[in-house]
Amino acid sequence: MSFNTDTKVNEIALSNPGARHILEDAGIDYCCGGGKSLQSACLQANVSAEEILLLLRQNSEAVPPGEAQWTSAPLAQLTKHIQERHHQYVRDAIPRLRQLLGKVREKHGGKHSELGQIEKLFADVAREMLMHMQKEEQILFPFIVLLERAANGNGSVEPPFFQTVRNPIYSMMKEHDSAGELMRQIRAASNGYQPPADACTSYHAAFQGLAEFEKDLHFHVHLENNILFPRAVELETAAV
Ligand SMILES: [Fe+2]
Ligand SMILES: [Fe+2]
Repeated sequence: MSFNTDTKVNEIALSNPGARHILEDAGIDYCCGGGKSLQSACLQANVSAEEILLLLRQNSEAVPPGEAQWTSAPLAQLTKHIQERHHQYVRDAIPRLRQLLGKVREKHGGKHSELGQIEKLFADVAREMLMHMQKEEQILFPFIVLLERAANGNGSVEPPFFQTVRNPIYSMMKEHDSAGELMRQIRAASNGYQPPADACTSYHAAFQGLAEFEKDLHFHVHLENNILFPRAVELETAAV
């Protein structure tokens, strides 16, 4: 795929994981704000679009088997993968990080008041994400699987209480924006997840865990916003 500054960042992120890593490392939002052009996403991230373009053109990382398939694999498989890989990761990471952040705040909060703010912001992300994933797993994902089954000639889909799949998708995308914004605030409050010079091992572990959590969230939201949701809308549109 050839890129220019007008190419949409979600198309770049979809092209291969190397490109996605370049965007992630540059702090460019490719998941929630994926519909923007590279030019405007770079402006927002305060990085040079020309430099990013150069990196993207130099990047030759091939798509590893397993990653490219999501644009064509059955949606039943993609939703299963999202639940097993990303939802489970979020559920495992939340109690671990909350405990670690509490411990670090108790020990260093007197000198580093931002730790209390980070702990509170993370509690908000945790609460929102746990409710959000439950809605996806209980309402949206099962409906998408039914839509796909019907499209393959297996049964029919009753009109859902939410009328069209676009409605829960719209809500889920708003919630993605909110979680992404809270993580941006955590990144800012933690100086880009850089612990201070006097930080202990737990402090380092907590910031490293938060950085990983944000990175995983970006990929998780990318799979939903840029692949799963548009494919579900397409299926529903084709069925009408
Ligand atoms: Fe999800
Ligand atoms: Fe989601």
